[in-house]
Order: sequence, then structure tokens, then C-alpha cells
Amino acid sequence: MSIGIATAIFAFIPALIANSLAVIFGGRFVIDAGRTIGGKRILGDGKTWSGLIGGTVSAGIIGTLLAYAGKQSISIHTLPTPGIYIIFTLAFGSLMGDMCASFIKRRLGRKRGEKTPFVDQYDFVIGALFMSWILYPSWTKTTFFSRQGLIGLALILIIVPFLHRTVNIIGYKTGYKKEPW
Ligand code: CTP
Ligand code: MG
Repeated sequence: MSIGIATAIFAFIPALIANSLAVIFGGRFVIDAGRTIGGKRILGDGKTWSGLIGGTVSAGIIGTLLAYAGKQSISIHTLPTPGIYIIFTLAFGSLMGDMCASFIKRRLGRKRGEKTPFVDQYDFVIGALFMSWILYPSWTKTTFFSRQGLIGLALILIIVPFLHRTVNIIGYKTGYKKEPW
């Protein structure tokens, strides 16, 4: 695998792990505090401050450690900056994407945890790419939208549903998650 492809996949790790970590840290301080719009919850009980902040911070820290560990083999970011900011941006963007999806799901009348194919799998990918595009456009373009970056991104899109399913089953079996999807 060429360096460009590996770099894209490696760089995306913070976005990939943020949601699973949010499940571990989540559950406290519901963001919408029970508020509704037109009788439907704004976000629902599945979106909490502890998940958003805990997921962002822990994914950011793990992503940073991995980036330092991989620095020799894969020239991934310009560490310490802006690399660390980019790592936290990807983690935060991932969880913001997940939160926007919950907002949309509630508007469509879907209850918390109800299965919504495609949206559940790709909301965080879109959120992470969107936020990193807004804050770090040139880095995002070269990392994910250059010729090799796009191959990496395509591979990410292919592995995400499998990864998502596996992690959710583990989350369900260990009691962290209410539904196995
Ligand atoms: N979680 C959290 N805060 C977040 C994201 C996730 O606390 N910002 C936790 C919640 O405990 C949530 C679990 O992680 O139930 C699984 O996340 P997710 O599947 O995104 O939430 P759902 O409960 O399925 O709710 P929704 O229908 O809104 O996706
Ligand atoms: Mg869900």
C-alpha cells in the first residue's frame, strides 16, 4: 500500500474511534435536557455532554499518541501543530456529525436507537470530513481528496460498515450499548 493511501486511513483513526469512546463515556448530562420541537425531542437521550466531551478528548489523546508513534513510518501530520488540532477536529467533527444525524432522525419521528441505515454508518464520516474541510481545507484536500487520498477514503468507506457493526455488537454484549446496531 502506498504511503498516501496508508496516511489517509491512519489520519482518519480519531474520527473512527470517537463514537465508540462516546458510548463508554456517554450517558450523563443529556444535551437537549429533554427539550422538544413540535413534540419531538431535539436530539434525544442518546446525545450527552459526557459522550461529546469524553469522546472528543479521549479520541484526541489516543489519536495524538498514535500520530507520535507512527511519525517515523508515516508522515502524517506536522506535529505538534497543526497536527494535534487536526486530530481533535476529526474527533469532534465525527461526534458532531453523529449529533446532526440524531437531530434529523428525531425530526423524521425516529426514536432514540431506532435503526436508520446509511445514516447510522456514515454520519460521523461526513461530520469529520466536513469539519476538517472547513478548518483545514488544504490538509483535508491533500490527505483525503488527492489521487491516493481518495483511494484511502474509498477503503475507509468500505470498511466502516463492518467496523461499525463489529464495535456495536461488542458494545451490546458488554452492556455499553442498548442495541446491537
Ligand atoms: N453517546 C452519548 N453522547 C454522544 C454520543 C453517544 O452519550 N454525543 C452514547 C449514548 O449512551 C448512546 C450511545 O453512546 O446511547 C450510542 O450512540 P448512538 O448510537 O449514536 O446513539 P443512540 O442511542 O442510537 O441514539 P440516536 O438514535 O440518536 O442515534
Ligand atoms: Mg444509534
